[in-house]
Parts: sequence; C-alpha cells; structure tokens
Amino acid sequence: MKVDVEYLEFMWSMRHFLITCGDIEGKSNIIAVSFCMPISKKPPLIACAIGKNSCSSELIKNSKEFIINVPLAELKPQIYYCGFHSGYQVDKFKETGLTAQSAHQVKAPIIDECVAHMECKVTQIIETGDKNLFIGEVVEAYADETLAKGERKTEYAQGDFPRKVYGTRFKTQ
Ligand SMILES: Cc1cc2nc3c(=O)[nH]c(=O)nc-3n(C[C@H](O)[C@H](O)[C@H](O)COP(=O)(O)O)c2cc1C
Repeated sequence: MKVDVEYLEFMWSMRHFLITCGDIEGKSNIIAVSFCMPISKKPPLIACAIGKNSCSSELIKNSKEFIINVPLAELKPQIYYCGFHSGYQVDKFKETGLTAQSAHQVKAPIIDECVAHMECKVTQIIETGDKNLFIGEVVEAYADETLAKGERKTEYAQGDFPRKVYGTRFKTQ
C-alpha cells in the first residue's frame, strides 16, 4: 500500500548551508538554507530559494549579495538555531556565538567556523511561490586548506529533514 506523504522528505539528500547577508559594518544576518544548488558552471551560478518574508530575503534584495558558508555536522545546533529564529527578532551572530569575519568581495561577513565560503553577487531574482529564488554568481570561493587538499575527513551537515520547517503534509487538489 502507498500512502500520501510530504514529498519534500523524499527529496532530502540536501546539504545544509548557512547563508550570510547584510553588511558586517551594519546589520548582518545568518539563515539556514538547504534549497540551494549549482545551476551553471560558466559563469558559475548558484540558485538559493529563500522565504519571501524572511529577514534574509529583505537584506539580500537590498544588497544584491550573499555568502554561502559550508558548515560541518558539529555546527548542527547553530544551523537549527538560525533555521528557527529570525534576524527580525534576534542577532544570530550574538546568540549562536558564531564569528563574523570580513569577506573579500562582498559586504556581508563570512562565518569563521564554517569550512568553505562562496561569495555571491545576485544576477537575478525569480519569485517562486513562497520563496525568492536568488541566483548568485560566485565571485570568490575559498575553503580551509586541509579540506581543500583532501587531508581532512569531514562530515558535512546534511541529511536531516527539518520536519518542523517543512513537515506540513502537502497535497495537490
Ligand atoms: C535545516 C534547515 C534548512 C532550511 N532551509 C531553508 C531554505 O532552503 N529556504 C528557506 O527559505 N528557509 C529555510 N529554512 C528556514 C529558515 O532558515 C528560517 O525561516 C529562518 O528563521 C529565516 O531567518 P531570517 O528571517 O533571519 O532570514 C531552513 C531551516 C532549517 C532548520
């Protein structure tokens, strides 16, 4: 027997990312994002779907920049904190203890505890249902040296289906 399910759970091999946005000198924010994928190699483009009502959407729309930070599994508590709280209400850098550091080409900070960083400039914004799909061109990408050289084994934060965020059963009429 087959039963109706929340379809997203069965797409879930996605990696969790922490996207930073805003301005390190002013207001900056962190959002947990899994709806994120490469969509072109030349030019290097990545698409990220971010809730229309989120603080991050507003900041990215204004600055036209964001950074994809790659967390390891040990940052899961911080990922979940950033995924269940809004920058409209809290300062996520302060609350998680994550360290903001200057990026190279964009005003938003990188998260020092993450192992890789992709600085992106927005080339296109597409409205998709409840999300804004931000297409960003990667202007610079860098990672911890041991990781880049494959000298270190890593467990990226991935896999868990964030049921509390996406667990509402979806059924088309
Ligand atoms: C593991 C995980 C993955 C998430 N992925 C996304 C995502 O891909 N897109 C999105 O809009 N929200 C996603 N969320 C929810 C946002 O992180 C959440 O709505 C957040 O509070 C928005 O913060 P902001 O208002 O500070 O931007 C995810 C949450 C978790 C816990």
